[in-house]
Amino acid sequence: MTVNTTHWGKVAVLMGGTSAERDVSLKSGRAVLTALLNQEVDAIGIDTGVGSLLEKLTENSYDHVFIALHGRGGEDGTVQGLLEQLGLPYTGSGVLGSALAMDKYRTKLVWEGLGLPTPPCVLLTEKTDFNNVVTKLGLPLMVKPASEGSSVGMSKVNDVVEIQQAYELAKQFDQVVIAEKYISGVEYTASIVQNQSLPIIRLETPRVFYDYEAKYSDNTQTRYICPSGLAPDQETTLQQLALQAFLAVGATGWGRVDLMCDATGQAWLLEVNTVPGMTDHSLVPMAAKAAGIDFDNLVLQILAST
Ligand SMILES: Nc1ncnc2c1ncn2[C@@H]1O[C@H](COP(=O)(O)OP(=O)(O)O)[C@@H](O)[C@H]1O
Ligand SMILES: [Mg+2]
Repeated sequence: MTVNTTHWGKVAVLMGGTSAERDVSLKSGRAVLTALLNQEVDAIGIDTGVGSLLEKLTENSYDHVFIALHGRGGEDGTVQGLLEQLGLPYTGSGVLGSALAMDKYRTKLVWEGLGLPTPPCVLLTEKTDFNNVVTKLGLPLMVKPASEGSSVGMSKVNDVVEIQQAYELAKQFDQVVIAEKYISGVEYTASIVQNQSLPIIRLETPRVFYDYEAKYSDNTQTRYICPSGLAPDQETTLQQLALQAFLAVGATGWGRVDLMCDATGQAWLLEVNTVPGMTDHSLVPMAAKAAGIDFDNLVLQILAST
């Protein structure tokens, strides 16, 4: 794709922020900034975790904003709302899609309402009888904060007596905590750019699940397999399901849908990421590469979704 990069004017790349994923976001932001500068786009990085974002966005005259913020206070609709108010076009999902996708619980309610497959779950509160949770979901099960990323605060629970501790841990990260039926099977992730599905990546980790270590430590032997090894019709089915799930929560432009397939081949949707990682080791760039789109070009394609 040949693009006239002066067309973008001055671009602010928002990165960092204050969420649990700050460090990953700084890496994503720097990689995006480098890609833009490589292509002679007039881009500037802004760390939103320091000082007033409103002041930073208004002290310069920007034409477009690339959001490379992960997690709350960046991926969740709040920054998107500010940019709407300032009349600045930005990458990715709007306020509604960002906010809804940030909340795994409400995302699942929307999918359930539409008949899209997602593992059954229950809300956990101080008053929940954990025995009832096990009766409903079986064991093992996953306990997760509704609004965190990078597997933060998440546990796999093998016995009813472990739920309390898993709940306490998850609650440190969000008021809303869910228990979800555990899916034993193969994990996939479907990347979406310009509302099109890229090749699916299969994930294999020797760890209990794809946790923070598996995601970000180089020595965990997590394997990313792309092409996924799925039969072409299955690959297409999962791509279509992921796109449907993405659009269902009001997400637009680009993102990533995490899903699993159980032993029977049934697919189960886990979550939508509206600002997935964008380091050169991240999954969307990997899927783009498999589709013949290099990192620099991918960044421009995402910018084109503003
Ligand atoms: N219901 C589930 N069954 C089995 N594994 C799960 C389930 N939910 C999450 N996991 C594992 O935990 C990881 C992180 O979960 P996910 O819902 O994608 O949250 P996030 O990536 O935002 O932390 C997944 O990639 C998967 O390895
Ligand atoms: Mg995930």
